[in-house]
Amino acid sequence: MNGKVPARQFWSSRTAFLLATIGSAVGLGSIWKFPYMVGDNGGGAFVLVYLGAILIIILPLLIAEFAVGRRGGGSAVGSFANVAEESGASRSWGLAGVLGAVASFLILSFYSVVGGWTLAFIPLTASGSFTGAGVPEIAGHLTALLADPMTLTLYHGLFMGVTAVIVMLGVISGLERAVTILMPLMFAIMAVLVVYALVTADGFAAARFLFTPDFSKITANVVIDAIGLAFFSISVGLGAMITYAAYAGRDIDLSETALITIAADTFISFMAGFAIFPLVFSYGLDVAQGPALMFQVLPVAFSKMPLGAFVGTAFFVLLFVSALASAISLLEIFVSWLVESGIPRLIAAPSAALLCWFAGLGTVYSFNLWSGVHPLDGVRGFENQTIYDLLDFLTSNIMLPLGGILVAVFAGYVMRRSAVLEELGWKEGVIAWAWFLAIRFITPLAIILVLVWKFTPSGNAGG
Ligand code: TRP
Repeated sequence: MNGKVPARQFWSSRTAFLLATIGSAVGLGSIWKFPYMVGDNGGGAFVLVYLGAILIIILPLLIAEFAVGRRGGGSAVGSFANVAEESGASRSWGLAGVLGAVASFLILSFYSVVGGWTLAFIPLTASGSFTGAGVPEIAGHLTALLADPMTLTLYHGLFMGVTAVIVMLGVISGLERAVTILMPLMFAIMAVLVVYALVTADGFAAARFLFTPDFSKITANVVIDAIGLAFFSISVGLGAMITYAAYAGRDIDLSETALITIAADTFISFMAGFAIFPLVFSYGLDVAQGPALMFQVLPVAFSKMPLGAFVGTAFFVLLFVSALASAISLLEIFVSWLVESGIPRLIAAPSAALLCWFAGLGTVYSFNLWSGVHPLDGVRGFENQTIYDLLDFLTSNIMLPLGGILVAVFAGYVMRRSAVLEELGWKEGVIAWAWFLAIRFITPLAIILVLVWKFTPSGNAGG
């Protein structure tokens, strides 16, 4: 280990580290956001670009974040600075970590609001509100929740509060125990939902929708949305994985962990697709209804299946826990930086969470009081976007890709090649050559080209 790093905690095993990275990756991004963005963007073409982005952009970056984190041994800010110094570069590389900390704060502000929806749906499902209900009645429950700022604010506060308590007590021990049990259960319940949807509803229509790309649908907006979602879903681009890898022991194979994390997250995204879209097509629901999709479609299954109230409750509890595991990683990015700057964890975690909760009110009101507030109404392509829409766009489609470019440049050009190879346990050879090719050229260029395409007139910016 490099000598200047103070004693730190470590994951107790390789599996614990793997489950924690899967816990960070799998969350609302895969189960809520992936299906609704696929629906909004017309299906197969979006899915294809998403998968391409995962392979070409996200996989190399995840490996890079792991290498920087374990080498640096600090928060995202500290790790960048430490590794830069070791490589003979300026410690102000730490600013790349600051960008991540700011982005994670903004993401958590809206993530927690949606985390609150999952909490609100637990008592709703458990009390049998969906059992035997008709489709319009089911959709009405989310509509009513979104129209009620008070209830949304409370559940958002509850979600943020639980996140803060866990981060306050220290991530490793609490998180480790929780994810080891709950992540496997999450896969199991998704499997139940997929089987139900395939048996009772139109699985072929869902497969056609997901896997038949209509290339005429690939515009700059679709591409950048897909890339943004790939960053978001795998938790790449703002240092979450740097932060977690800092706690990884020497015996852990980082590139293997990266591969498994990505495979697990992508698998669960597709499970979510196959739990939701068959019902959408069988019941003639709207694929492009945006953020409401999962919350209005899955309860249709819970209303009809045997033991639906039980299965539904279990699903929302597990979804809450998955979202919580992701939210913890988001808050930890920010808090580990504060702790490193000398603020005690017991103070840093609750105050960051409180501030973030307050920022989240902008998202809460986007669905009711301020649904007509469109701050960038004068800007072409951003008309009609609520505060939530803009936050989501700014973080996923701008800040995460920019963070990605910084990670790529750092790992490809600044960090010593020998240090990279040592962290990844690679010798010079085909794998190392391919990874360096990706991280030095392909990944950053792909991101830059897409951003340029998006913001030139021919890219029909916004929307
Ligand atoms: N990946 C998580 C999800 O899909 C969200 C998340 C957690 C995240 N940590 C992150 C997104 C860091 C970007 C960066 O729900």
